[in-house]
Amino acid sequence: MISYKDLGLVNSRELFAKAVKGGYAIPAFNFNNMEQMQAIITAAANTKSPVILQVSKGARNYANQTLLRYMAQGAVEFAKELGVDVPVVLHLDHGDSFELCKSCIEYGFSSVMIDGSHLPYEENVALTRKVVEYAHQYDVTVEGELGVLAGVEDEVSAETHTYTRPEEVEDFVKKTGVDSLAISIGTSHGAFKFKPGQKPQIRLDILHEIEQRIPGFPIVLHGSSSVPQDIVKEINQYGGKLVDSIGIPEEQLREASKSAVCKINIDSDGRLAMTAAVRKVLVEKPAEFDPRKYLGPARDKLTELYTHKIINVLGSNNQI
Ligand code: G3H
Ligand code: 13P
Ligand code: ZN
Repeated sequence: MISYKDLGLVNSRELFAKAVKGGYAIPAFNFNNMEQMQAIITAAANTKSPVILQVSKGARNYANQTLLRYMAQGAVEFAKELGVDVPVVLHLDHGDSFELCKSCIEYGFSSVMIDGSHLPYEENVALTRKVVEYAHQYDVTVEGELGVLAGVEDEVSAETHTYTRPEEVEDFVKKTGVDSLAISIGTSHGAFKFKPGQKPQIRLDILHEIEQRIPGFPIVLHGSSSVPQDIVKEINQYGGKLVDSIGIPEEQLREASKSAVCKINIDSDGRLAMTAAVRKVLVEKPAEFDPRKYLGPARDKLTELYTHKIINVLGSNNQI
C-alpha cells in the first residue's frame, strides 16, 4: 500500500470546498504520457492553479499505472522547479469496478471516480457506497456519477443523454457518502459532440435545481471540450480528415464554473491541439524524424491551450 500523502499529492476535498466558494472550477486534464503531464503542470504553475491529473482505464493500459503514478509524483517536484507549489491530485477517471478503484488507491492515487452511471439506480448506489467505504479509510476522495452522457466513455457509448434527475441527487449523496458528483446536463465525450449549425446549450436549469437540493456540494462536469475551430481547421489543413463538429461553448462552461461546478474535465481539446502541432511539423518538415522535434511543439501548443482554459474557462488562475 502506497499512500498518496507520502508522494506529495493531495486529495480533492479542500480544493473543491475552496473552488465552490470562490466561483471557479479545478481543471481536470487527462494524461497518458510525459509531454501531456509537462504541459498540464507548466500551465498550472504559470497560472498558479491547482490541478487534477486524470488517468483513464485506457491510459492505464497504454502507459502502465505505476509509470503514470511516478510521473504524477515527479509532477509535484517539476512544479516546484518551476517555482510554484502546485496542489496536484492524481485521479482515476471513469473507474468501472471496485477492484480497479482499490488497485489505484493502493498504488497512490489520491482520488477515484466510480462510474456506476450505466447501472440501475440501486446498483449504482451500492457500488459507489462500497468504493467510498474503502477509499475513505485512506482519506482518498471519491467522485460518483448520476445520469448518462451521450458519446463514448472508455469502452461504453450512449446514443443520447439521460439527464441527471435532480430528485435523485440528495438520496444518492446521502446513501453513498461520495465527495463529489458528476452530472449529465448536456455535455458529452469526444470531439464530435454537435454538428455545425446546432446550438449546444448546457442545461443550467437542471444544474441550479441540483444545487438547490444539495447546496454547496461539489459538482463535476465531464465531456467539457469545446472543439476549437481554429485547431480543427489546422489539422485538416495539414492533411487531417476530421469531420466538422462543434463542442460546448466556453462561455457556458465559464458560467457553470461560477456555481457549485468545481471540476471540469477536458481531454479531447488537448488531443486536437497536439495532433495539429504534430501534423504541421511533419508536413512542413517531411525529413524530420526526431520525436522531440514534433512532440516539443505539440507540448507547447497543449501548454498554451491549457493556460487559456485555466484563465478564461475555469477561472482557477491565482488560486494557490
Ligand atoms: O472520458 C474519457 C476520457 O477522455 C479518456 O479517454 O478512455 O480514451 O483514455 P480514454
Ligand atoms: P472531453 O472528451 O469533452 O474532453 O471530456 C473528457 C472527459 O470527460 C474525461 O472524463
Ligand atoms: Zn468523462
